Amino acid sequence: CEYVDYFIKRHGGKLKWRDNERVLEIGCGVGDVTRRCFFPLLPRNFQKFVLSDFSPKMIEFARKEFQGVEHVDFMLLDIEKELESSLYGGFDKILSSLCFMHVRNQVKSFENVFKLLTPGGECFIVLMSTAAIFETIFQLSETPKWAKRLKHHREDPNPEETIGRLLKNIGFVDVFVKKEEFSHLYPTVDDFRETLKCMRDVSSNLSQEEKEELLEDRVKLGIHFNTKFSLPGKVIECGCAEYLVKQHGGRLDWRGGERVLDIGCGVGDVMHQCFFPLLPRNYRKLLLTDLSPKMLEFARKEFHGVERVDFMQIDIGVDVEKSLNGSFDKIFSSFCINFVKDQRKAFENVYNLLAPGGECLLILSQTAAFFEAAFQLINTPKWEDNLKHYRDIFVFPYREDSNPEMTLRDLLQSIGFCDVFVKKDDYNCDFPTVDSFRECLRAFPDFPNNMTKEEKEELLEDQVKMGISFNIVGECRDDSKPNAYPIMENLTIYAKKK
Ligand SMILES: C[S@@+](CC[C@H](N)C(=O)[O-])C[C@H]1O[C@@H](n2cnc3c(N)ncnc32)[C@H](O)[C@@H]1O
Repeated sequence: CEYVDYFIKRHGGKLKWRDNERVLEIGCGVGDVTRRCFFPLLPRNFQKFVLSDFSPKMIEFARKEFQGVEHVDFMLLDIEKELESSLYGGFDKILSSLCFMHVRNQVKSFENVFKLLTPGGECFIVLMSTAAIFETIFQLSETPKWAKRLKHHREDPNPEETIGRLLKNIGFVDVFVKKEEFSHLYPTVDDFRETLKCMRDVSSNLSQEEKEELLEDRVKLGIHFNTKFSLPGKVIECGCAEYLVKQHGGRLDWRGGERVLDIGCGVGDVMHQCFFPLLPRNYRKLLLTDLSPKMLEFARKEFHGVERVDFMQIDIGVDVEKSLNGSFDKIFSSFCINFVKDQRKAFENVYNLLAPGGECLLILSQTAAFFEAAFQLINTPKWEDNLKHYRDIFVFPYREDSNPEMTLRDLLQSIGFCDVFVKKDDYNCDFPTVDSFRECLRAFPDFPNNMTKEEKEELLEDQVKMGISFNIVGECRDDSKPNAYPIMENLTIYAKKK
């Protein structure tokens, strides 16, 4: 649902809706995407909405999903087959998500879409050209170990051009085909394994043992994709934020047309993957802010092409530009406010930036195993001199607080927030390898010190050893012992301005 919603937010505005339209969905599946993503697009006075699929079982599920909804009908339809001519020209809009990549006869299927549309009719189709879960198979089928046993081939290298050409040849006009990536991080290795298990069996010629072996090889490759394509620390942060948004994001009350702010957006990935899917399609604006112009540059790339998004350099730890006061209905922040020394000032700023009735959802890190690897070296004879300014940057004001939930509640209420909710949650997962843990540490910002390059490397290696001793590195893990620390200990805040 999140995936389809993401593409609708980006491109759904291209559909021009009129009164009394007849709408068809092709390949509705169980109808959940239809209900949550497509149905809200329809104007109130649509004439009929027909959900179709070639599987009677799916139609049964979809019927349940739409029980009691008026002007909705269901139809068994195989888009690859010859259609009854009575259906020709019967629809003003045709919608479809994640169906056309399962269709073998692309030409016939798109020709059918053309025939089903009335003159002037429009179609909006989301299909997958590939995905990390499928890539694991493509890549393994090219390795000596699996080449003979797996017969899978990479598909079209330029799907935009192929589909565009096909549609124009059929007679479509105003053709727009865009290939875009959607990132989703599996919070744990087990989640990834379970997803692979749920996919259609692609290895029917293999024995049970071989299937198990293939599954584990795909899991390993998936872990490699993560460490290769994104910093391991970011993988954990996104997984953790996603988890916390699932736990607490439901507290936010959305009405449409909101002005939204992200404080300390960093590279923008957490906003994009975890908070952005919460926004209603008709949000008014989204402003991403950070202290660091470098981070804003990355965030700009992350949000390239997304409408109504802007960027601004803001330090949330000092007085913020007064003209911004009262201009946001929702404020998000993740893993940023724990870097701010003047906590009262940061939360006062959040309060002032909110419009009356505005709400915020803020995630602060109390501590994290990967920061503990340095925190615990601060008082050692070997490192105390070099690390004496470490906490100037890695402030983490609630690390030593025995009741941070109460401290924050009191602080927020004293500023004027109402409905204050503060919850401490632990998040657990492992770094798969020593290298991935080292890479995570390397990505941290520097702090005031006079260390030579060699000393910095030595500190890094001592932190790595510390992490291994915490039992948080999969490769070196002793399964008979628990982790010494959760990977992240977080404080999630929800609060409202009266
Ligand atoms: C650990 S990153 C988190 C980024 C992003 N929110 C996320 O969840 O991935 C912390 C970010 O906070 C920003 N930051 C630190 N102090 C800040 C301040 N006083 N005002 C605004 N941003 C700040 C940093 O530049 C950095 O991009």
